[in-house]
Amino acid sequence: MMQKQWRLAARPEGIPDRSHFSLTDAPIPALQPGKAVAKTLYLGVAPVMLRYMRNETEFESPLALGTVMPGRGVAQIIESNCDSLHVGAIVQARLGWQEYALIDDSDHPAPFLLPTDLPLSHGIGAVSLSGITALVGVRDIGRVAPTDRILVSGAAGGVGSHVAEIAKALGAHEVVGIAGGSAKCARLRHDMAYDHVIDYKNEDVDLALSALFPEGIDLYFDNVGGALLDNVLARLRRRARIVICGSISEYLTEAENKHHFINLQNLGRQDAKMEGFFVFDYQDSYPQCLHQLATWVREGALNPVEDISHGIETLPDALADLYLGNNVGVRMVEVGQPDLPL
Ligand SMILES: NC(=O)c1ccc[n+]([C@@H]2O[C@H](COP(=O)([O-])OP(=O)(O)OC[C@H]3O[C@@H](n4cnc5c(N)ncnc54)[C@H](OP(=O)(O)O)[C@@H]3O)[C@@H](O)[C@H]2O)c1
Repeated sequence: MMQKQWRLAARPEGIPDRSHFSLTDAPIPALQPGKAVAKTLYLGVAPVMLRYMRNETEFESPLALGTVMPGRGVAQIIESNCDSLHVGAIVQARLGWQEYALIDDSDHPAPFLLPTDLPLSHGIGAVSLSGITALVGVRDIGRVAPTDRILVSGAAGGVGSHVAEIAKALGAHEVVGIAGGSAKCARLRHDMAYDHVIDYKNEDVDLALSALFPEGIDLYFDNVGGALLDNVLARLRRRARIVICGSISEYLTEAENKHHFINLQNLGRQDAKMEGFFVFDYQDSYPQCLHQLATWVREGALNPVEDISHGIETLPDALADLYLGNNVGVRMVEVGQPDLPL
C-alpha cells in the first residue's frame, strides 16, 4: 500500500511556494518494535516551518533536501507495538507531511492523547499547541490581571485568535487586537472576543494606539515583532509585561535589515518586563493546559476559529497563506478520516 508525502525540494528565499516541495509516493510504513503506525487526519502549518526549510532553527535542523517536511498533526493509531499509543487512539504527534507515519513516544514533545468528544481538528489548534501557546503566554509569562490594558498583535492568526478569549476567561475585561484587512478585523470582533481592533493595513497604527491606550499598555502579547514592538515599548505603563511569542514580520528579513530598536530603555524606566518563551519547553504543563482549554471549549468560553483546506495536496498553499496573510484562525489541512471508531 502506498501513501503520499511532501518532501523539501528547494530552500526558499522569500515566501515558500509549490516549487520548494515535491509530492512523492512511498510505501505505508510497516510496524516496528516499540512503535505505532499513525494515520494522519489533520496537519497544521506554522510560520516556523519556513525557518526549518532554510535551516535557521536548531530544532529540525539540518533539514536535508529530499527529507519529508516535518510537522505536527492529529492522527489515529491504526497499529501499535507501543504501550502508550493504543490502537484507535487519537493523538497529536510529530507526523511529517505524509498520510501515514511511524511514531513512538520518544519525540519532543511526546505524542499526547486528544479528547474525542470535541472536533478532532481542535487537536491541532485550540486544544493543542496553538491554544497552549496562547495560554502559557497570557497566564504564565504575561501574568494577566483584570485591570490590564491589553494589546495583541497577529490577533487573527492561529495563536492570536485564542488570546482574547483566554485572557477574558482569566479575568481580563478588555482586549485590543491588531490584524491586517477589514474582513479579518471584523472577525476579530465577532468571532474572537476582541473589543477594539486596529487594521494595520488601512489605519494609522500610531494614532489608533494613542486613541485606544491614552494611559499606555500593561500587557502586550506579541506575535509580530519589529517596528510595532518598538512602538509599544514607548507606550508601556508601570510594571508592564511584554510576551514575546513570535516575530513573523522579521522571519523573511535578512539580519542587516532587521528593525533597530530605539525604545528598549523604557523597560527600565517603567520597571517593565519583556520575556520570550518556547512552548515545547512547557511539556510538563501540557496535561493541565489541555484540560483547561478543553473545558473552556465545552463551556463556550473558547470558540476556536479554524481555516481548513482539504487534501494533502494543499499543504504548500497552506504554509504560504501564513506569509500572505490569507489565514483567519488556525490554518490546517484535513488529510484523512479515522478508520476506527472513536
Ligand atoms: N513561542 C512559541 O513557542 C510559539 C509557538 C507557536 C507560534 N509562535 C509564533 O507565534 C506567532 C503566531 O504563530 P501562528 O502559528 O499563530 O501563525 P499566524 O499568526 O497564523 O501567522 C500568520 C499571520 O501572520 C501575519 N503576518 C504574516 N506576515 C506578516 C508581517 N510581515 N507582518 C505582520 N504580520 C504578518 C498575518 O496576519 P495579518 O494579515 O493580520 O498580518 C498572517 O495571517 C508566529 O510568530 C510564530 O512563530 C511561537
